[in-house]
Amino acid sequence: MKPWEVDNFANASAAHRAGRESAQAIKNSRERIADKIGALPSEIIFTSGASEANNLALKGVAFKHLEKKGHIITSSIEHKCILNTCAFLESLGFDVTYLSPCPSGQVKPTDVAAALRNDTILISIHHVNNELGTIQPIDEFGAIAFDNDILFHTDAAQSFCKCDIDVDDMDIDMLSLSGHKIYGPKGIGALYVRDARDSGLVPLIHGGGQEGGLRGGTSPTPLMIGLAAAVEHFPKRSSEKERQFLNVIQDFKWVRNGGEHVVPSTWSLTFESDEEVRRFIQEHPWLISQGSACNALSNVASHVLTAIGLDESSARRTYRISLPPYRIKDD
Ligand SMILES: Cc1ncc(COP(=O)(O)O)c(C=O)c1O
Repeated sequence: MKPWEVDNFANASAAHRAGRESAQAIKNSRERIADKIGALPSEIIFTSGASEANNLALKGVAFKHLEKKGHIITSSIEHKCILNTCAFLESLGFDVTYLSPCPSGQVKPTDVAAALRNDTILISIHHVNNELGTIQPIDEFGAIAFDNDILFHTDAAQSFCKCDIDVDDMDIDMLSLSGHKIYGPKGIGALYVRDARDSGLVPLIHGGGQEGGLRGGTSPTPLMIGLAAAVEHFPKRSSEKERQFLNVIQDFKWVRNGGEHVVPSTWSLTFESDEEVRRFIQEHPWLISQGSACNALSNVASHVLTAIGLDESSARRTYRISLPPYRIKDD
């Protein structure tokens, strides 16, 4: 990233040589990100992160239907940036169905199909849950959307680079991703939009035509380069980390939430008692969270944990542990 911050500070939209070099570097980054999900480079719209990508996907589709409004299907365990965007769209007159997950954390495809209406304009369900690690059957959601000629968007902030994604095989029309979830820079992400230029998506930021007219603003070249570099350098997982972690937690009493289909990096553990929690934290002063970082400041039980049926007391004894892709210290 440094050369694009220091040596070449040019605006990528400038016609001079330095500008053209910067634009070429962005083009390479866009290609590498597109390649990771089986998309075309022109279908990658850089944003400030997954929150903005999710806002662009939902509002961008809804604003196409401002006059007649319409119906959106999502789940009750989405990230707050989806839930709050849906609440905003409800305030404008759109209808939103919030599907509840099974106790395992998965949303049932049959529930998605049953929620369809004649005026449904969008299905938006995340790929991997940020608190539970549960992997949703997004290929089945995509197939339902495709069969019914409805757009399908998925928030893949927690799955990008960690799960295989092919937007064609999975019938995904829009997909959000974030740089800092894969150890890239903060403040950069992207929205994949199928046939972006012909999508009719309404931009949130009107500007000078950057990002195919879907997201105005001077291109943050170093961040765009950094995001593609993070994709390239994201380490392959080895089961060693999970084995090390299991060794550590086998001395405690807990239940893992999230069902059978979970990513190996995210563990949601409900400890048996407050005493077990205290012992765990004292013996292992790691950086662990109750719920997601975005909810950590509020004292209420996480909406995800209550949605899978945990009561207030169990939710308080539940910790989310994200295993890093690098080695956990043995001592
Ligand atoms: C599932 C999910 N969606 C969206 C976001 C928001 O991403 P960003 O911080 O890039 O806006 C996060 C991050 O916390 C997330 O876990």
